[in-house]
Amino acid sequence: MNPDIFLPPQVAWATGALAGGPLIRKTTRLADLPGIFANSEAWKCGDPQQSVYDVDVLGSPVGEGALFVGVTHLHAGRVGDEFFMTRGHFHARREQGEIYFGLRGVGLLLLQTEAGDARLEQVTAGSVHNIPPFTAHRLINTGSETLSSLAVWSSIAGHDYAALAEGFVLRVFAAGQGIEVRHD
Ligand code: F6R
Ligand code: ZN
Repeated sequence: MNPDIFLPPQVAWATGALAGGPLIRKTTRLADLPGIFANSEAWKCGDPQQSVYDVDVLGSPVGEGALFVGVTHLHAGRVGDEFFMTRGHFHARREQGEIYFGLRGVGLLLLQTEAGDARLEQVTAGSVHNIPPFTAHRLINTGSETLSSLAVWSSIAGHDYAALAEGFVLRVFAAGQGIEVRHD
C-alpha cells in the first residue's frame, strides 16, 4: 500500500454498516422513549430493552465548519399501530441544516418548521433529503426491515429535544396493508 494514500472509512451501501474508522454507537431502546408514542399503554406493554434504533457516528473533529457523518438504523416495529420512529429534534443551532440519504428499507422523513408546518418525504434506498435550517426532523420506519439512513450534519449543530415536548403534529400508523397519517 502506498504510504501517501490514506484509506478512509467505508459505508456498505446495502446495509449502512460503517467500518474502518473510530465509531461511536448509541442505542435508543423502548424504555428511552416515554411520551413519544401516542398509545402509552401499548408502550408500557413493550419490552423496555428492545432496541428501537442504533446511531453510529464516525469519530471526527468538532468545531466551526467541521462535519459529522453517521448512520441511523431504525428497526421495524410498532407501538400499538404506530410505526417505530426516532425521537426527533431541532438542532440547538437552529440555522444548521442536514443531509439525509436513504440506504435501505422504506420509511418517511417527517419535517416540521418552528411554526408547526409539517410534511413527509418518502425515504428509500438512494433518496436524498436536504433538511432546511430551522426544521425539526424525525425518521419513521413504515416497512418490515430496518430503515438505514446516512446523515451529514454540522458538528456544532447540537440537538434540542426539549423544544418538541409537545411532539410533532403528524403521526403515522399502520392501517391494513398501508399507512395512515393522522394530524394531531
Ligand atoms: C443528527 C441527526 C441524526 C439523528 C438520529 C437519531 O443531527 O439528525 O443522526 O440524531 O437519526 O435521531 P434523534 O437524535 O432524534 O434521536
Ligand atoms: Zn439532526
